[in-house]
Amino acid sequence: MRMKDKIGIVTAAGSGMGRAGAIRFAAEGASVAVVDLNPDAVAEVVKSITDAGGKAIGLSGDLTNDDFARGIVRETTKAFGALDFVWNHVGSPGPASIEGLDWKEYDFTMNLNVKSVLITTEAALPELRARGGGSILFTASTSGLVGSQFSPVYNVAKFGIVGLVRGLAKRYAKEKIRVNAVCPGPTNTPMLRVFVARPDSQLPAGETPESLVWKRAAQTPMGRPGEPEEVANAALFLLSDEASYVTGVALAVDGGATA
Ligand SMILES: NC(=O)c1ccc[n+]([C@@H]2O[C@H](COP(=O)([O-])OP(=O)(O)OC[C@H]3O[C@@H](n4cnc5c(N)ncnc54)[C@H](O)[C@@H]3O)[C@@H](O)[C@H]2O)c1
Repeated sequence: MRMKDKIGIVTAAGSGMGRAGAIRFAAEGASVAVVDLNPDAVAEVVKSITDAGGKAIGLSGDLTNDDFARGIVRETTKAFGALDFVWNHVGSPGPASIEGLDWKEYDFTMNLNVKSVLITTEAALPELRARGGGSILFTASTSGLVGSQFSPVYNVAKFGIVGLVRGLAKRYAKEKIRVNAVCPGPTNTPMLRVFVARPDSQLPAGETPESLVWKRAAQTPMGRPGEPEEVANAALFLLSDEASYVTGVALAVDGGATA
């Protein structure tokens, strides 16, 4: 088992890559706090894990609420006694243009993608230190590595996450706290449909979000979107002790899109 006796948190774990990661980490021996806005989704993921003999608790709430973003660390250590890893997976695409930008939408996007994960990380650091080290993983995006013509605020946020990862990795390396990012390309989850269906992203005539998802994915070198489990595999490696000499990395999991 690759995460035997590890205790960790996965945010946005009710769906997509976070769900795949939470289930996989538990199957590899971890005790997992499943965090998501959607209580039904949280209950479903916790049940999947516990039905398979794994250990999980569910924490449902809004991570743009500072107290909740901080409190998930307290609830996890209360339930399981310690903390070894955090996957800060939550995020959202934000507006597709800076022209006519709704600044409330800007604030929301930055709060969810950047501020909320900073708050959770701040709360987690003393717990990881108390454990003699640990691992923090952020979800950036290929939009944290290269420009995206329809995601200006998302670019700001996800490039910011990659910068944060590099800085935190250096700061906490001597304390054996590793900090990395996964940078997914188009991945087959509900959020990919949200990306292509944003009202100002100029959905071409005759296209639906679903048709566009497959058309855009066909333009990647592998000619397909990633599956959530393929990103969860990368997350498993980066969070586990197998990556003991890996810190400050922003690993593209994108079928070659940024090659
Ligand atoms: N899907 C992609 O193509 C893609 C590509 C690159 C990066 N990403 C990143 O991956 C992450 C999530 O992606 P996914 O595709 O796995 O998503 P998804 O759509 O499958 O799931 C997102 C989950 O986040 C939860 N959520 C939304 N707002 C929340 C909030 N305020 N508080 C708590 N939970 C909240 C939702 O309830 C949902 O369960 C984001 O950081 C996103 O930027 C996605």
